[in-house]
Amino acid sequence: MTGKEVAYVNGAFLPIDQATISIEDRGFQFADGVYEVVSTYGGRPYAMAAHMERLQRSLHELRIDFDVSGLPAVVEQGIERAGFDEALVYIQITRGTAPRRHEFPERPPDPTVVMTVKQLQRPDPKLHETGVSVITTPDLRWKRCDIKSIALLPNILAKQLAHEAGAYEALLVDDGERVTEGSSTSSFRVAGGVVFTSPPGPHILPSITRGVLIDLIQKLGTELREEFSTVEQYRTADEVFLAGTTTEAMPVVRVDDKQIGDGTPGPVTRRIREAFVTSVRSR
Ligand code: PDD
Repeated sequence: MTGKEVAYVNGAFLPIDQATISIEDRGFQFADGVYEVVSTYGGRPYAMAAHMERLQRSLHELRIDFDVSGLPAVVEQGIERAGFDEALVYIQITRGTAPRRHEFPERPPDPTVVMTVKQLQRPDPKLHETGVSVITTPDLRWKRCDIKSIALLPNILAKQLAHEAGAYEALLVDDGERVTEGSSTSSFRVAGGVVFTSPPGPHILPSITRGVLIDLIQKLGTELREEFSTVEQYRTADEVFLAGTTTEAMPVVRVDDKQIGDGTPGPVTRRIREAFVTSVRSR
């Protein structure tokens, strides 16, 4: 591995083990902040404009006054300093540091801006051939999952359950028995040649990869419906796949104890993945 992990804190780059923030940072105290995760292809950040737009929107929803327009240049610098062939960039912005009181500080502190650049590790490519298994678990998240908030406790608990079950991901199931999305991925199911994914709204993160795949699916001439599916519809689907920045489009061949299709990645998922890989290469 050539390259070295770098951090950026409030305007300065420094080695990751020297990067610190105050214990009174509201991100640490209250998870009062938002984040983005950007990956590179060919060493260049992917879908940067879409990530910045989502970040600005998340900040706006939390009423954190910060203009993201200078960040792409910081990201580029960080990637260059780190020097990895492919990088994973984590950006976190919190309301800033202030004595611990629940309400916003009367005089807004400067938001805390943290970035790390690490070697990108995508899932083992073999998984795209074999597919992965997922479990299902109740969606215990708050009612504004459209905000990319750093408050991820329900997500990490769900992912841990998946991990302990030897599964790749946990699909989150709401009180109406509907699958919203994965703990850190968007989810899709295929039935009768039609691709279904949860509609945009407060129940899901407006995933950048989800948006890219929806465009590709439509270009492929495959019918796409943004409709909720029940957990039973997932368990009995012809195909299921996940989407996310590092996951890309990942076939699922088992949901809980139910095999999906013939237990191998299905044709619709394969076509969508191929279209994604082609679109990324041709950038
Ligand atoms: N997770 N849904 C949830 C709940 C997520 O946390 C993520 C991303 C996605 C996929 O979004 P995108 O295509 O924009 O990566 C969907 C990031 C990668 C994370 O928390 O590390």
